[in-house]
Amino acid sequence: MINRKSRSVLRMISYGRLVSATLAGLTLMAAPAAQAQNAAPAGTAQKRYVARTAEEAAAARAKRVYDTVQPSNPTIVRPSLDNKRTANGLALTPPMGWNSWNKFGCKALTEQVVRDTANEMASNGMRDAGYAYLILDDCWAGPRDAQGALTADPKKFPSGMKALGDYIHAKGLKFGIYSDAGKLTCAKQPGSQGHEYQDAMSFASWGVDYVKYDWCHTGSRNTEEAYALMADALRATGRDIVFSICNWGVDRPNESDKSLPWEWGMKIGNLWRTTADIRNDWQGRVRFGIGVLDIVDKNEPLYPYAGPGHWNDPDMLEVGVDKNEGLTWEEQRSHFSLWAMMAAPLIAGNDLTIMDDATKNILLNKDVVAVDQDQLGAQGRRVRDDGDLEVWSKPLADGGRAVLLFNRSGSPARIATKWSEHGYPDALQVAVRDLWAHRDLGRIKGGFSAEVPSHGVVMLRVKP
Ligand code: GLA
Repeated sequence: MINRKSRSVLRMISYGRLVSATLAGLTLMAAPAAQAQNAAPAGTAQKRYVARTAEEAAAARAKRVYDTVQPSNPTIVRPSLDNKRTANGLALTPPMGWNSWNKFGCKALTEQVVRDTANEMASNGMRDAGYAYLILDDCWAGPRDAQGALTADPKKFPSGMKALGDYIHAKGLKFGIYSDAGKLTCAKQPGSQGHEYQDAMSFASWGVDYVKYDWCHTGSRNTEEAYALMADALRATGRDIVFSICNWGVDRPNESDKSLPWEWGMKIGNLWRTTADIRNDWQGRVRFGIGVLDIVDKNEPLYPYAGPGHWNDPDMLEVGVDKNEGLTWEEQRSHFSLWAMMAAPLIAGNDLTIMDDATKNILLNKDVVAVDQDQLGAQGRRVRDDGDLEVWSKPLADGGRAVLLFNRSGSPARIATKWSEHGYPDALQVAVRDLWAHRDLGRIKGGFSAEVPSHGVVMLRVKP
């Protein structure tokens, strides 16, 4: 059996291959341009194009990597290292809301979907449970107008964005929108590159409270500078706008993705994607999509970077997104619990007009949501890893802990944990609550053990 560690080694090897293949492709692609530059002026002897040596190609590659990580102008202090720069003071707990992408994708996103979703969020308990942001993902935009300003797609959004924002606000919700740091978005709609201040002003005038800013079609832009520029533009509007950095870490092995957003994101945005896009599946990569387990293994080690105002974002929820395929109910409960343990943004993505009770019981589990939203803002982590059986711990503001017993294996298993694994003396008696059974189990000394279903969790809140 391939365990998780060997799986991650395999992943690194295949990632390395992809990078080399991409870089080799870049060197090949660069050749004709270099040839054109070397072309001799008319009337002089024709110089023969000399291919770059391996060393020259390597130096060019190194420079390219350096340029994407270092500021393009070395006299500029990197925003993340600028002592005078502060964060925007927003998102002191992980953002919660709903986003159109996982269910409606590009084509099916319409004004009607957004209005229906707003109605549901305001009446089905979600808004009151903390799901505040209604976020339109890619594919809301039409072409830029004669002044270069963004416009809504007139067919899909006939009332326009200001009216839609007003509607969302009237329901007691906040309005989120999507753009991209490149010339085009991932779905090839207008991106904000070169229009940052203009777009930020449009967003503010529509009442936008949250911007998700993607990283497609960015060419050789410097990542940190590109995000800092938009962050500054949003702040210049004077409106409180949560800034969601969608730059996936190193998951997309292309030429523009060599930086690690968690290393520079803290003073620039409020959350940053740490992985490729989530798939409605337990495990495995398909194109740019990866499963819940793959995401967990990438996001968990990043716990030191998370805190109030700046969160690791392991992507949006797949809970209830497709009832006939994808994650089982057990897996959806685990997905939600793990996201709460990791203090992840909780951004639902299911069709709220057909939400069933099983989905509601997950998304509206107030005990689990409270773990995610805990004021201390600590990201939980694995404190024990026995292969497929794991124990996780998340410190909470009241001195307690959220404790997760997680069974990745294909059959039910007993998992035990001692209080000393959570920073308490074993002799301590702690009050234990089971967050999925919704039951207080009394004060328990030493530790806890339970039978955990395959791919399932037992989640506790303990308090000395
Ligand atoms: C990227 C992002 C997704 C989504 C799509 C939209 O893949 O990572 O979350 O926004 O673009 O095109």
